Amino acid sequence: MEAHIVEWLNLTVRWLHVIAGVAWIGASFYFVWLENNLERLKEDLPEDIAGDLWAIHGGGFYYLQKFKVAPKELPKNLHWFKWEAYFTWITGFSLLIIVYYWNASTYMVDAAVADISEGASIGIGIGSLAIGYIVYDLLCRSPILKKPPLMLAIMFGFLTASAYVLSLYLSPRAAYIHVGAMIGTMMAGNVLFVIIPGQRKLVAAAEAGNEPDPWDGIYGGLRSRHNNYFTLPVLFIMVSNHFPMTYGHEYGWAVLAGLSAVGIGIRHHFNIRHRTNAAAWVMPVGAIGVAVLAWFTMPDAGPEVDMDAVREFREVSFAEAQGIVATRCYTCHSATPTDDVFKIAPNGVRFDEPALMKKYSAKIMNRTYEVRNMPMANKTKITEDERLILAAWVFQGAKTE
Ligand code: HEC
Repeated sequence: MEAHIVEWLNLTVRWLHVIAGVAWIGASFYFVWLENNLERLKEDLPEDIAGDLWAIHGGGFYYLQKFKVAPKELPKNLHWFKWEAYFTWITGFSLLIIVYYWNASTYMVDAAVADISEGASIGIGIGSLAIGYIVYDLLCRSPILKKPPLMLAIMFGFLTASAYVLSLYLSPRAAYIHVGAMIGTMMAGNVLFVIIPGQRKLVAAAEAGNEPDPWDGIYGGLRSRHNNYFTLPVLFIMVSNHFPMTYGHEYGWAVLAGLSAVGIGIRHHFNIRHRTNAAAWVMPVGAIGVAVLAWFTMPDAGPEVDMDAVREFREVSFAEAQGIVATRCYTCHSATPTDDVFKIAPNGVRFDEPALMKKYSAKIMNRTYEVRNMPMANKTKITEDERLILAAWVFQGAKTE
């Protein structure tokens, strides 16, 4: 019953998280696009206007103007964009609790990585979010802020190092998702602690008829731009748990750094595309980068996967393979799982019929022998020999008689 309720909580909160995230990131993309497409050089622009822009969308014409700092008189209705950000963070953190902290022994701790307690794993997880924001915020308050390439290099190094350190303590999936949560926290923190307060000051100054401090807007704008560059890596991390060849790789942290670099480059190209095509080279280089990562994560290319042992292994009978799957996998992957967390076969994948074992045989090989992230958290204590026997059974044609 509890597991069933947690599943529905997971579904609902995840859905909300995606909806809020789409709204937030959509707005972020849109406003960066606006900023980059403003027509600033027109002769007839009023003194206090930085630029304007015409657009057509959904059958209507739109005309927008951007003020250099703030209008002399504030409009009655001023739209703020903040709840998308807050709600994305709140639902994201709730998901961390529902999925990862609730079942920390399954999702956070991996004895093959580090033998730590559930409490310690949660402490590391939450601590990483706090430390991440503090480091980022200190960097933003230093002169480095005004040197974007240096800022980018330092943040990239810091987050890659964080991915590495987390991978030494948490399960590979949890390590990835916490890098995502660290970035998400920086992004939401930017909105809550910097962008919105800065905008409040601008509004207050305009209301009081004082000269607003342009730095409030510029500073918020810079941190808003950081958010824009964070988006593609964080979006990948959000879907990464579908791709065990990334987080499950021996050098998963490096794979993440590679994919993030591609994402940041592509974001940059899109950000400046309308002014100059100077970063167009990023697109082909990004494609090559992804191909290199695909090669790098190829199961046979990893030093760990011993395919010779599989090739040379004695003949394995179906009964033997089925016996191993029955004891090590049925607790989750069967019609009636007995696991304490999984009450329905994960992803609907069951092995309790010979035809199903055959159907999923390539995946069984992949998860138990190559990537080695099944059985989940090795809850059912599969042995190295049994992994090899299953791999050999698949290699020999996954015969079911
Ligand atoms: C404690 C529960 C548990 C046990 C035991 C377990 N798994 Fe899994 N398995 C999961 C979960 C949860 C997922 C979905 C998450 C994921 O894909 O990593 C999964 C996914 C999989 C997938 C990917 C299915 C897909 O979506 O394509 C395969 C293959 C797999 N498991 C194989 C195995 C094999 C083989 C064993 C036994 C040697 C095993 N699992 C034991 C929980 C378990």
